[in-house]
Amino acid sequence: MKVLVIGGGGREHAVCKKLAQSPRVDSLLCAPGNAGIAQVARCVPEVKATDIDGIVALAKREQVDFVCVTPDDPLALGCVDRLEAEGIPAFGPSAQAAQMEASKIFSKNLMKKYGIPTAKSEIFEDMNAALSYLDTQSAPIVVKADGLALGKGVVVAQTIDEAKQAVIDMMQGGRFGKSGARVLIEECMFGREVTVLCFCDGKTIVPMRASQDHKRVFDGDRGPNTGGMGAFAPSPLYTPEIAARTEAEILLPTLAAMNAEGITFKGVLYVGLMLTAEGPKVVEYNARFGDPETQAVLPLLDSDLMEIMLAVREQRLADMDIRWKEGAAACIVLASGGYPGHYEGGKVISGIEAAEAQGATVYHAGTKKAEAGFVTAGGRVLGVTALGATLREAVEKAYAASDAIHFEGAHKRLDIGSRDL
Ligand code: AMP
Ligand code: GLY
Repeated sequence: MKVLVIGGGGREHAVCKKLAQSPRVDSLLCAPGNAGIAQVARCVPEVKATDIDGIVALAKREQVDFVCVTPDDPLALGCVDRLEAEGIPAFGPSAQAAQMEASKIFSKNLMKKYGIPTAKSEIFEDMNAALSYLDTQSAPIVVKADGLALGKGVVVAQTIDEAKQAVIDMMQGGRFGKSGARVLIEECMFGREVTVLCFCDGKTIVPMRASQDHKRVFDGDRGPNTGGMGAFAPSPLYTPEIAARTEAEILLPTLAAMNAEGITFKGVLYVGLMLTAEGPKVVEYNARFGDPETQAVLPLLDSDLMEIMLAVREQRLADMDIRWKEGAAACIVLASGGYPGHYEGGKVISGIEAAEAQGATVYHAGTKKAEAGFVTAGGRVLGVTALGATLREAVEKAYAASDAIHFEGAHKRLDIGSRDL
């Protein structure tokens, strides 16, 4: 098969590497891709992930047999619907199903209606109503923009004044454009966070190995939120008891709720959980693989990802035997100095081969090929993943390999996984 993957980050590098291992895949394309993905796929940098017309045209021109749509924006823009309407098989939810991520109000209403455990929350379309409501509440409290906002549409406010400022920024400042036209104000939940990525074909939902992300930029969960500074799997917090409860109280009810609403979700459902004193509750759904969780989870997959994607699209997931490797995986993200704020690109990267010689896998997120070799070209630059018999071994190996990599201003957290070791 000739397969096209949409996207160009570390997550897409992990998806491409896994697909490249499949005996079913003869040829791999990626749009736009990146310098690392170019080692396993033919990249088409001029077709951006949000260019739906360009993606459809590329798929036709190249006569691809299958498209994997990985990022949130093209899914919300109906990329899978368009491809399928053209007769091109595609992996990922329809635009309607992708609302699970693209509209926090949509998913919150779904959870409310079907009694799926989550934070209590109120929806506001009017700024003054939201501000008056805040006068009746106490902090900490959470303010969320409705739509996609690159992970920056959530403020966990420590004071009511901070919450009011967030409401004003989102609803008046226009910082989030249409995404902030409606906001949610919700109860603050307390507990540890776990990510459960699930393959879902609309009939069956199959959780992958549970993982943990590290969203803050600095050690000890300090500093601003980022796209994710590291991840590991499996999560020791996701015990068999928690897993059973999550399946019974959240995963199966979510599948049933979507079906009751006439939504056939085919793709990866990302379930972000908070393990509260009352049990697991949903923080958010996403309609795709997580980044960087995927760079820790997919290396543990022992089955053929292409076969799974085909089964999801054809609603044959119940017949699949999805196997996982023993042991653990950890991914350390190397970021540009200054990220998630301002940072400079074009820094020469050394040591990638040395890191891989230690048995690690280096996923490219924001790199470019220049005359001097790979140079930085993004906030998150690389993800270094290692496997180990235990979480401790995986983390130690990933750090040892990441120490071989250098570029000016490189920043990494030094405590990935350490809270759970
Ligand atoms: P989201 O974009 O919905 O994943 O939110 C980003 C982060 O904000 C989450 O990973 C949580 O750490 C935090 N968060 C979101 N909602 C809540 C909530 N209701 N209570 C506490 N923390 C939250
Ligand atoms: N790692 C968080 C996300 O992919 O949304």
